[in-house]
Amino acid sequence: MTEMSKIAVIGTGYVGLTTGACFAHIGHDVVCADIDESKIDRLNRGEIPILEPGLDDLVRDGMAEGRLSFVVGAANAVADCEFAYLCVPTPQGEDGSADLSYVEAAAREIAPLLTSGAVVVNKSTVPVGSTLVVEGAMMRDDVTVVSNPEFLREGSAVHDFLNPDRVVIGTDDRPTAVKVASLFLGLTAPVIVTDPASAETIKYAANSFLATKLSFVNAMAAVCEAVGADINDVVKGIGSDPRIGDKFLQPGPGWGGSCFPKDSRALVRIADDAGYDFSLLRGVIDANTQQFDRVTDRVEEMVGGLRGKRVAAFGLTFKANTDDLRDSPALEVIARLQERGADVVAYDPAIHRDLETVRVADSAYSAAEGADVVVVLTEWDEFRWLDYTKVVEVMASPMLYDTRNVLDAAGVRKAGIELRILGRG
Ligand code: UDX
Repeated sequence: MTEMSKIAVIGTGYVGLTTGACFAHIGHDVVCADIDESKIDRLNRGEIPILEPGLDDLVRDGMAEGRLSFVVGAANAVADCEFAYLCVPTPQGEDGSADLSYVEAAAREIAPLLTSGAVVVNKSTVPVGSTLVVEGAMMRDDVTVVSNPEFLREGSAVHDFLNPDRVVIGTDDRPTAVKVASLFLGLTAPVIVTDPASAETIKYAANSFLATKLSFVNAMAAVCEAVGADINDVVKGIGSDPRIGDKFLQPGPGWGGSCFPKDSRALVRIADDAGYDFSLLRGVIDANTQQFDRVTDRVEEMVGGLRGKRVAAFGLTFKANTDDLRDSPALEVIARLQERGADVVAYDPAIHRDLETVRVADSAYSAAEGADVVVVLTEWDEFRWLDYTKVVEVMASPMLYDTRNVLDAAGVRKAGIELRILGRG
């Protein structure tokens, strides 16, 4: 059993809320703070503002057991805390660098209130050198700042927190490293203790490598289409090599979300500022943009020109099982289809309102009405179980492009639909 520690968590987004609820779940006494009063009110009513499987139960259990509470303002969370976790946004600035203004503001707010010996922990993804920035903002030499980057995927954040592949702790102070590591004693995972710069770099390197893997498999999908190979079998063939691994090799319309686009650009910028031209990673980012273009080209080719055509887009979120639209590949492709003159209607199980840029239907069937082509852009299971004989009845022409390889190809073709699958011809 973990020895109970008093932890303040600043910021209640999917990282902060998951971190706070999971720390409470493994035995710590947690106070979460946010500047958004309405969000705190909803949390105190047990309403969870984000779609994370298992999070609502953890929050309710933590509150019921009196180990998890929510307050407005960081200053009200840190009284007598031993650890203060900074889980505030680090948005991407215009120039690609990460904007640390929220981190610095939180650090300045809590600095005068922290007890001597407290540990401030950077959980948000922050540029290399940010621990020094936080130390500078706090001006407290009796408080240590460490990096403890998160590796949580949206839609599985609770699972990922409670089953980490590793816990990374960045500090030059060994006793502090031991104190932070002890917070995770209830979990079985290797603890990697390193200096702050290396810990911060690990986070960017991990996300950028994963993005690289995806850009590679998406480019291989284009090669397979060109040479008449099947990307599924190619992925099986290479993924059997443990040095490559069979995970994270599902081709798609490109990668997106609140992390990969921001972190890959930030790493290019961090490298540039440090005097290294990270052209490989720039290429990975360009390949992702090209993927959006290539998917749009394929749809255009299927309908013989997009001007005046109706396209039904199945999927808006950046991936299935989340309601997050940030940097969604689906929105990138839809924007391109519209630029080329298509009239797009979308449907997504998690989105129940029209967006600024695209009308959203209340079912896949109504989105498909009058459509010249359907394009699947997010891998929602729901799209697999649709009745495609009904879909084809309402369409103007029976064509479908599955960019996520999520459908039952035989069943869709049996319904009379001309099906194309990304990377499979
Ligand atoms: C990512 C990292 O996985 C996580 O470790 C980090 O902490 C935060 O960023 P997340 O952004 O939630 O997590 O999404 P992820 O599941 O990694 O997917 C990112 C993008 O890649 C999505 O657009 C997804 O659709 C796409 N993807 C993922 C693929 O196209 N194919 C795959 O095989 C996996």
